[in-house]
Amino acid sequence: MESASEDIRATHATAKAFLLTSAFWMIVATFYGLLGATELIAPDLTENLGGIVFGRVRPTHVNLVLFGFVSPGLLGAAFYFIPHLLRTRLFSEKLGVTAVIAWNIALVASVLTLASGLTQAREYAELIWPVDVAVVVTLGLILFNFIMTVKQRKEPILYVSVWYVLAGLLLTGCTYALGNVIWRPDSGALTGIPDAILLWFYGHNVFGLWLTPLSAAVAYYVIPRATRNPLYSHTLSLLGFWSLIVIYTHIGTHHLLQVPVPTWLKVVAIVDSVCMVIPVMAFLINIWYTAKGKLGEIHGDIGAKFVFTGTIMYFFVSIQGSFMALPDVQRVTHFNNWVVAHAHLGVLGFAGMIALGGLYYVIPILSGRPLWSRFLADFQYWMVLIGMVGFTVVLTIAGLIQGNAWLNGETVYRVLPEIHVYYVVRAGLGLLIFTSAVLGFYNVVRSLFPKAGEAA
Ligand code: HEM
Ligand code: HEM
Repeated sequence: MESASEDIRATHATAKAFLLTSAFWMIVATFYGLLGATELIAPDLTENLGGIVFGRVRPTHVNLVLFGFVSPGLLGAAFYFIPHLLRTRLFSEKLGVTAVIAWNIALVASVLTLASGLTQAREYAELIWPVDVAVVVTLGLILFNFIMTVKQRKEPILYVSVWYVLAGLLLTGCTYALGNVIWRPDSGALTGIPDAILLWFYGHNVFGLWLTPLSAAVAYYVIPRATRNPLYSHTLSLLGFWSLIVIYTHIGTHHLLQVPVPTWLKVVAIVDSVCMVIPVMAFLINIWYTAKGKLGEIHGDIGAKFVFTGTIMYFFVSIQGSFMALPDVQRVTHFNNWVVAHAHLGVLGFAGMIALGGLYYVIPILSGRPLWSRFLADFQYWMVLIGMVGFTVVLTIAGLIQGNAWLNGETVYRVLPEIHVYYVVRAGLGLLIFTSAVLGFYNVVRSLFPKAGEAA
């Protein structure tokens, strides 16, 4: 397609640019998390500072972790392994780099608009219309690039990681446009209860049809390669893929069990939330049996170590999620920090860990030399793991205190002092994760751009 592209192709420019994007935005995203956590401890601190009031900081944090840190990390790895698995080159690195630039422009626009109070005020769909359009167009560019790469492939078999990435892009391109009601630029919303249903159809699909398939794709690539074992079962990978698509698509209403949506929709969401055990266990059994007997190899490779840990967190978050969809359980766990604990276990413990794993697995291959510091990467692993598990523990405890107080008719202001200490510990753990992001970024930059004399 392009004449001067041979060099840029050989350099895997798109994969590197996405990985760099992920490492950089992890710093900004966790900074915003830390800021929000500090505000929850001392709300008066930023009382009159409009740009950083909690209501603006929170969506900035959430959008940046999802679209700034986790998604580019997973996509960066995919831009390496999709052409590799298809035994061809990426259709167009130029198009790929254009997508990375557009993605970063959308991220900067997200921070600026949210800080200015420009929001559509629907959770996970806060970004205003021009940013939504940029996101959808960028997803389209990436999908087009991958489809053309598939068309020019020399490998006849489409490995499961390729299906997951293509399905994730196609389905998310559609559900993002639908969920953000992109045909209504002014409000980005329907009205009344149908809007809530559509929003959570989309909101849950961000985890189920975006983060989950991309993370599964990375795990299906990294674990067999790192252990040098063949994939345990092709049939299980088929079962996992199709059951994910069939079941995950309509469980979004489990976010609305306390809302007057039609009962049949709640029943479908609850039943299928429990059925999620099928795709989850099909994937996990396949990955864990592939790794059987090779835990030493996993321990020895920092990328695989992150990925494998992510699969363990996937087990916990999913089993927990199935229980959280039961109305009797949700009576205690809804509307409090229990859900925030679940969110960090899923988005950081599962998808974020796998994104970091993909990044550390692929960077030495792309740069042709070992990581600048394996020690620092290992250090980051422990900081993230301790921070994330710590978050889960303290926020779960805080959530149980809140949930039970609510059930007992306790007033909110009497409960706040009881959970204050957990908020303080959460902020401390957040500082640990933020510091790990700074160290990780430094390691990634030094690994991708060695100083003279450090070259392989
Ligand atoms: C596969 C099984 C899963 C099930 C059945 C499930 C179920 C649920 C339920 C019922 C809620 C709503 C809780 C409430 O509001 O009371 C929820 C919230 C949430 N889940 Fe999961 N979950 C699963 C996996 C995951 C995964 C893998 C991720 C991340 C990649 C994730 C991320 C989240 C997030 C971020 C929220 C918070 C949404 C909000 O802001 O209110 N979940 N989940
Ligand atoms: C990169 C890793 C991180 C990821 C993937 C992540 C993800 C998320 C998600 C998905 C939510 C929405 C939760 C919900 O609505 O239920 C959230 C909220 C939040 N996160 Fe994070 N987070 C990360 C790191 C941090 C850090 C380092 C802090 C610092 C303490 C932090 C503090 C917060 C706070 C304060 C909220 C708002 C909770 C509330 O509304 O009560 N996060 N995060």
